[in-house]
Amino acid sequence: PNPLGLAAGLDKEARAVPAWQALGFGFVEVGTVTALPQPGNPRPRLFRLPADQAIVNRMGFNNGGAEAMAVTLQRLRARGCLEVPLGVNLGKSKVTPVEQAPEDYRTSFQHLGELADYVVVNISSPNTPGLRDLQRIDEVRRIVDAIQGPNQRLPQPRPLLLKLAPDLSDEDAIGCARAAMGEGCAGLILTNTTIRFEGLTSPTEGLSGGLSGQPLFGRSTELLRRVRDALGSEAVLIGVGGIMGEEHARAKLAAGADLIQVYSGLIYGGPGLPRRLLRGLLEQ
Ligand code: FNR
Repeated sequence: PNPLGLAAGLDKEARAVPAWQALGFGFVEVGTVTALPQPGNPRPRLFRLPADQAIVNRMGFNNGGAEAMAVTLQRLRARGCLEVPLGVNLGKSKVTPVEQAPEDYRTSFQHLGELADYVVVNISSPNTPGLRDLQRIDEVRRIVDAIQGPNQRLPQPRPLLLKLAPDLSDEDAIGCARAAMGEGCAGLILTNTTIRFEGLTSPTEGLSGGLSGQPLFGRSTELLRRVRDALGSEAVLIGVGGIMGEEHARAKLAAGADLIQVYSGLIYGGPGLPRRLLRGLLEQ
C-alpha cells in the first residue's frame, strides 16, 4: 500500500505485526531469525546516542528460532489480520560454523519461506562472529543457491533479497549484488548498521556493535546510489539507514530506492513517524 517499511531487528519474533501495520507501515520485516533459538549477547547490548540521533547495538540475534517463528506466523495468517506484505529476515545461528552457513539458512527457509511474502538473506550484521565474512561472491552464491532449491519448489517462489553492510567497498558490494542477482534474487537491502563510528558527538569509548540512525545516512545512501547505477532498473532496492525525516526519505527514493525502511527514526521520532513521513512524501 505504500513504500515505507519497518526495518529488521525491531520485531525479531513477529510479536507485534498488527501494531506496525496500524502505525501506517506499508510492509513489515520481522527477524532476524536463526535456525536455532539463541539468547543473544549479554546486556547491556543496546545504547542510545541522542546527541547524534543514533543507536549502537550488539544484540547478537536474540530470537526463539525458526520453528517458533513459524508457529507465530501461522497463527497470524490464520487470523487473517495481515494486511501488508511480510518479510522474514534470516541470519546464521551463532553456533553454526561459517562453512555450514548455507545449510543453516536453508533450514530456516524451509520453516518460514512459505509463510513470508519476501525473504531476506542477512549476511551483514556485525554482532555474529564471522557473519560479515560471508559478504563474498562465492559465499553469496552458495547461500542463495541453498535457499533457491526449496524456494523454486514452492508453488509460488518468494522474492529473495540480500542485505549488505555499508562498510563494504563499492566494488565489493556491487560484486555481491551481481552474484545475488545471478542466483535469481529479486534485489537488495542497503544497508545494515556500520561498525565505523565516525564524526559523532557522543563519547563511544568502550562501545562496540553496529551504529544506526542519522550518522549512517550519508554512506548508506551513497552505496544505494552506486548499486542502482551498477544494476539498472531491474533489481528491487530497499533503502534503509538514517531516515529520520521526510527529507531523508525523499533523498533515498531519489538515490534509487524502490522502497524504504526505518528503525532508528522510529525510536527518536515516535509512533507518529510513519504517517508524518508518508504525508510528507505525498505532498511532494
Ligand atoms: C538492527 N538492524 C538489524 N538488521 C537486520 O538485518 N537484522 C537484525 O536483527 C537487526 N537488528 C537490529 C537491532 C537494532 C537495535 C538496530 C538499531 C538495528 C539494522 C536495521 O534493520 C537497519 O538496517 C539499520 O538500523 C539502519 O536503519 P536506521 O536504523 O538508520 O533506520
